[in-house]
Amino acid sequence: MAKRIRKAVFPVAGLGTRFLPATKANPKEMLPVVDKPLIQYAAEEAVRAGIETLIFVNGRNKRSIPDHFDKAYELETELEQQGKLDRLEAVRNIIPPHVACIYIRQSEALGLGHAVMCAEPVVGDEPFAVILADDLIDDGEGNGCLAQMVARYDEQVASILGVQRVPEAHTDRYGVVDVDPLAERLGRLKGIVEKPQPADAPSNLGVVGRYILNSSIFNKLRQTRPGAGGEIQLTDAIDALRQDEPVLAYEFEGTRYDCGDKLGYLQATIEYGLKHPELGPAFSAYLQARG
Ligand code: UTP
Repeated sequence: MAKRIRKAVFPVAGLGTRFLPATKANPKEMLPVVDKPLIQYAAEEAVRAGIETLIFVNGRNKRSIPDHFDKAYELETELEQQGKLDRLEAVRNIIPPHVACIYIRQSEALGLGHAVMCAEPVVGDEPFAVILADDLIDDGEGNGCLAQMVARYDEQVASILGVQRVPEAHTDRYGVVDVDPLAERLGRLKGIVEKPQPADAPSNLGVVGRYILNSSIFNKLRQTRPGAGGEIQLTDAIDALRQDEPVLAYEFEGTRYDCGDKLGYLQATIEYGLKHPELGPAFSAYLQARG
């Protein structure tokens, strides 16, 4: 029987150089889209998928994310006294009470693979999720990308990568997979290449920031030598893992915004602004008037 996916790892220790200077003193995962930071959208997606432990792998700007998820007594008292009850709700209910947050430090930004490895003492030998919060995924009224993947995991009991079709010219921005089709939207990994040039890409299926991984990935990560840029690449460890056990790629339903990139971030801001219950109509009118 499939073990339940109860833990999610959020690597938030990247340098975020594409967003400097905004990310000089703050992790990029704290950038807001309309009124919520990226990390909160990611945490909400995890909670909707049944995750009970959120494991944040923090870097040098380590304080703002724990502060965001901690109770803010003074702020709550102030809002209560001012009668701003809707705002009080917004800060009180950031995550439900049954969900625990654990913080781990990645002392040097040695790559995504290294960040995931830092979480091993907390993850243990359970399968777990990895969410890169700068990939914001809007599922419309649907199920949430991670919930879709957990459902596939329950059927298949194998590590799963979230993938989407990417423009051929952009394969050099993604880990790109080679798959044997298995079922609708699901394939078995035959290979994975990090950021290939379009001519060398095995397909146009790019990995985005959602993974469910068996704990056997940790052994592979330990054996992974630093690759491009001296970083330990998660992609290399996944490539080693799929040679020992099935690893699947799942084409999730939903729209993904690459919020680690300025253009993707602006696109997300516009789309989330337009569908915001209070702001949407006025924002839409503004954009229309602007032409
Ligand atoms: P990116 O590849 O987007 O790198 O990391 P980055 O450093 O954050 O951003 P740029 O490219 O310099 O602008 C992918 C994910 O892995 C995390 C990041 O926080 C992001 O969620 N990461 C990356 C770590 O946690 N540690 C690392 O050493 C590297």
